[in-house]
Amino acid sequence: MSEMRKVQRSVVEGVGARLPEKRVTNADLEKIVDTTDEWIVQRTGIRERRIAGPGETTSVLATGAAQDALAKAGRSAADVDLIVVATSTPDYTFPSTATQVQAALGITRGAAFDVQAVCSGFVYAIAIADKFIASGSHDCALVIGAETFSRILDWQDRTTCVLFGDGAGAIVLARGEGEGKISDRGVLTTHLRSDGRHREKLFVDGGPSTTGTVGHLRMSGRDVFRHAVGMVTDVMTDAFAATGTSAQDLAWFVPHQANERIIDASAEKLGIAPEKIVKTVHTHGNTSAASIPLALSVACGDGRIKRGDLVMLEAMGGGFTWGSALVRW
Ligand code: ACO
Repeated sequence: MSEMRKVQRSVVEGVGARLPEKRVTNADLEKIVDTTDEWIVQRTGIRERRIAGPGETTSVLATGAAQDALAKAGRSAADVDLIVVATSTPDYTFPSTATQVQAALGITRGAAFDVQAVCSGFVYAIAIADKFIASGSHDCALVIGAETFSRILDWQDRTTCVLFGDGAGAIVLARGEGEGKISDRGVLTTHLRSDGRHREKLFVDGGPSTTGTVGHLRMSGRDVFRHAVGMVTDVMTDAFAATGTSAQDLAWFVPHQANERIIDASAEKLGIAPEKIVKTVHTHGNTSAASIPLALSVACGDGRIKRGDLVMLEAMGGGFTWGSALVRW
């Protein structure tokens, strides 16, 4: 009988985070560029962000988040056979940040690699790790979003430098068994999209194969905004359709934290109640691939997200890339 068929699920066992020490408020930014706290709060909801110091590289933050997630899961590094780090700001062009995390954790087995999908990176990384675990090839993954966007910002460009922050978040995703039903714990469905025609709306103007430099982030914010709500609500609608669920079934909505107005408009379009939205954009800014696991860490830490809750994750970012993941906690 098909209802009795056991299926491999990848289950979230623990969530962790690591933020840089240095807190930078909007008032601090008023001293650097021609901006105001009022403009930033009204347009984005951001009040402060963390900025990494010289020693706080992406791999250092990622390792801290991974250690926290392992501790929360009650797991040791020896259990891990897959590390996927979502980042667009790696320590080096190569080797990958994931292999540096692997070495820092003392892991010598399994596979470690980076995923580059800008702000959608964490959703891409979950989708990849879920498929590895569901296939039976791997048992226990660290899925990490880690960024130091402050290193690629043009600190003279007020239209971008006020929007971003640094940090890392991680989850332990491990094999569990389900019955193929939406009541199963674990990742229930993922939906990834990309469309490279939108490159010029959000990009970095340097790289190893073009300028031989790291480059700076460039963004046409208004153009990104115009596409964002439609794209993220499309992939959430796909997730609902694939599972026969609806906005009413969600316990929590944990979106990419780019801008409060995009978050609110997306929730409203799908009928997700405001009290179900987890928002950390006011204290973290846009931390790109780190924003979802950082938000998860806050909402798991304060007891909002509990075992059995249905949680919708979504993100949209440079490329464009966008995606959703529907997870039973
Ligand atoms: N302080 C004060 N004024 C500013 C600032 C600032 N920091 N930045 C821009 N302005 C000015 C502009 O110069 C412009 O002035 P003008 O009218 O005299 O020309 C005015 O404010 C309005 O600028 P807009 O860009 O039209 O402002 P908008 O309301 O669109 O808000 C924002 C800008 C916040 C960037 C918004 O467009 C947005 O959030 N877009 C989405 C960005 C986003 O989410 N990016 C992340 C995507 S994920 C990833 O992959 C990185």
